[in-house]
Amino acid sequence: MTEQMTTSSRPRVLSGMRPTGKLHLGNYMGALYNWVKLQHEYECYFFIADWHALTTDYADPSLLKQNIFEVALDFLSAGLDPDRCTIFVQSHVPQHTELHLLLSMITPVSWLERVPTYKDQQEQLREKDLATYGFLGYPLLQSADILVYQPNFVPVGQDQVSHVELTREVARRFNYLYSPKHVATVGDRTVTEPDPDKLLLPEPEVLLTPSPKLPGIDGRKMSKSYGNSILLSDTTGDVESKMLRMSNGGQRPTSDVPGDPDICPVGDMHRLFSEPHVLTHITQGCRTATIRCDECKIMAAASINLHLHPIRERRARLIEDPDRVWEILDEGSARASKRAEKTMQQIRAVTGLSRDRSGVRLHQPFQELDKSASRNLTAFKDWWDLDAPILTRNLRERWRTDLLPSGKVLKPDAEGVWITQKGQRILVAVAKQNGPGAAWEFSAKPKSYEMLVLLCWDENYYLRDFVVPQKLILGEWIAAKKNAGKSDIKFSVERSGDRYLLHLLNPPPIDITSTESEYSVIPG
Ligand code: TRP
Repeated sequence: MTEQMTTSSRPRVLSGMRPTGKLHLGNYMGALYNWVKLQHEYECYFFIADWHALTTDYADPSLLKQNIFEVALDFLSAGLDPDRCTIFVQSHVPQHTELHLLLSMITPVSWLERVPTYKDQQEQLREKDLATYGFLGYPLLQSADILVYQPNFVPVGQDQVSHVELTREVARRFNYLYSPKHVATVGDRTVTEPDPDKLLLPEPEVLLTPSPKLPGIDGRKMSKSYGNSILLSDTTGDVESKMLRMSNGGQRPTSDVPGDPDICPVGDMHRLFSEPHVLTHITQGCRTATIRCDECKIMAAASINLHLHPIRERRARLIEDPDRVWEILDEGSARASKRAEKTMQQIRAVTGLSRDRSGVRLHQPFQELDKSASRNLTAFKDWWDLDAPILTRNLRERWRTDLLPSGKVLKPDAEGVWITQKGQRILVAVAKQNGPGAAWEFSAKPKSYEMLVLLCWDENYYLRDFVVPQKLILGEWIAAKKNAGKSDIKFSVERSGDRYLLHLLNPPPIDITSTESEYSVIPG
């Protein structure tokens, strides 16, 4: 796969299937057939949900690996192309389980108990003990599967819609808790809410797979548990003999009695797989009793076999080289893992789980008076080259945990804005010195703040914090805000001898030297 394809800007799609054994025509028409088409238009991730299989089959995992292999063979035979989409095994991408555990922290148990498939499946599979923690978490694991790829769409059948709905609710809760906030105006109120442009877990949409009526050979819905399936891997002969046994819906007791193909399971097969002229032929023949059911069934078998022919050919080639199948899964898992890791890095950073040391106090509070020690960030010099948004976030965190005196309680508001106990808004702006003697260049949203904290990181990795009360700059800030209009206010801090000068819109600059580390202006 080329780099261009992996980093494509096509909308992203993700879906999965439990490895329950060889796939039948129902699985094929209800999912795979659609996936094969999607891989040409979207950036696709398709996986084998082995963890999900264990939620119900934990007592007997002996067939799991075999089933994974069978499903992989079915995926590839059906036409999923590893050069066009990423095919992988869920458990081989550990980020799924990591996100699942994290999401479990924020998901109310009642949300899971309320998912309609929970009670349904428990009752249907009463022979298995499904009063487990893992089974309750089934749809939440599915949410993690989905969200870890930040996809736009999830192609599923109607039976999975409630799981995607849960996924959207969990994403919303996650974003409410951890995504960057902005201040928005709703009617005449301003609210702080997740910034829609910066959501860590965007809510994906269902791409509903049309599920055509596909009867099994006994006329009931085709299902593995009914033993009425035609498998994707059946031979031509298997398909013929199964079709010959197929129910005709109890019509035509003898061949001279006409029937109605619209209510006949064999008619359903023709409607899905036969060419229009065949369909016309059997429709007329059935209604006029001029063809027999066995003739009609053989024709349906031929149509199915025509469809399965290329699938069988691909399967025959793959089975010659099973190592290649495992290799495709390995490559797919590596590719998927790379994409999932990108999401997890963003997520670990906001949940205290990242491995960098941002947000950790270097000094105990009693050392607070030792200003220069906590402001010397030589230990963090690897931050110097970080992208601006990440550097800004790290320095703000360091400021909050290490420079802000511990008695000052601030509530986070929009990104970079904190509210004091008295309801005053503080903007914490960050700049690094680009070259010896260079000024610190800031930009800020054109709003009103009661205080500005200006963090100036210099070439010696020393961080200066100026706590500038609004009254020092009032007129100038208003002028700069007017001038900026809708764009950000630009301003700078310059060092001149031992003085620090703030340049807003109009000269003269304002001397802010005495505000350095001067936190008495913040209540608390
Ligand atoms: N629960 C799905 C099913 O039974 C399989 C699945 C697991 C899935 N994780 C998913 C489907 C993520 C879509 C997206 O069919």
